Amino acid sequence: MEGILLSCLFLMSMSGALAATDMEGNVFLFPKESATSYVILTPKTTSPLSSFTVSFRYRKELTRYCSLFSSATSKTFNDILISKENTTHYKVFVGDESVTFRGTDDTPDWEHLCASWDSSTGVVTLWINGKSLPRKTMKKGYSVNAQPIIILGQEQDSYGGGFDINQSFVGEITDVNMWDSVLSPSDVQLALANDNWLCGTIIDWKSMYYELKDDVIIQRKLEHSSYYQCDGTCRRQTESKC
Ligand SMILES: *[C@@H]1O[C@H](CO)[C@@H](O)[C@H](O)[C@H]1NC(C)=O
Ligand SMILES: *[C@@H]1O[C@H](CO)[C@@H](O)[C@H](O)[C@H]1NC(C)=O
Repeated sequence: MEGILLSCLFLMSMSGALAATDMEGNVFLFPKESATSYVILTPKTTSPLSSFTVSFRYRKELTRYCSLFSSATSKTFNDILISKENTTHYKVFVGDESVTFRGTDDTPDWEHLCASWDSSTGVVTLWINGKSLPRKTMKKGYSVNAQPIIILGQEQDSYGGGFDINQSFVGEITDVNMWDSVLSPSDVQLALANDNWLCGTIIDWKSMYYELKDDVIIQRKLEHSSYYQCDGTCRRQTESKC
């Protein structure tokens, strides 16, 4: 009995799956290449989506293809997938189709990404460090399926699995938020400048349900990305908007 209790306590301390955790100031660190290390994020709502925005910060040294955010459903494994093709190009998938965006050459610095899609127009917008790229369209009229499994660190080629070491992420990811709407340009700037002030409605970094698998650890941020991403005019909000 005591053994069971102890292992339950151990499991609880190993994952944030059982209680919401405020992850402000933390990062998920994926220290090395693997097909077994990842984080499962539990969404607050699992309804179908006619629009969404996903935003997060990451840094990495990888130059090969890697998955940054993978959301699969039982019908569609790349229902929402944001990935880096190589050092310059990004891919955004919705419902197994993708569009490619050309950014500037990679550095190992923190980068803030914000991707949105809207079913009524099919417009996909990718913002890199608060600057939008020329927009594209795909999957007009589509609806992102219910009951997603959302994973960081690996790309799902099946529902909750099918990982490939050559698509894995190595580096740090933080400030992950997701909304069931397209953020306005000023809200994208808020998400960039004030970390998690605008709380996600589907994934909220300040109230996260997650599960760590294998070799992923949580570390404190080494610097305030909000200060160092901004041009001197940004002010960190002291109060959350949620
Ligand atoms: C990166 O990927 C894009 C899209 O597939 C391709 O057009 C481009 O040539 C690639 N760049 C490098 C440096 O491999
Ligand atoms: C990953 O890439 C390496 C180097 O290109 C290759 O040798 C290996 O077979 C690949 N692994 C998988 C699982 O595809």
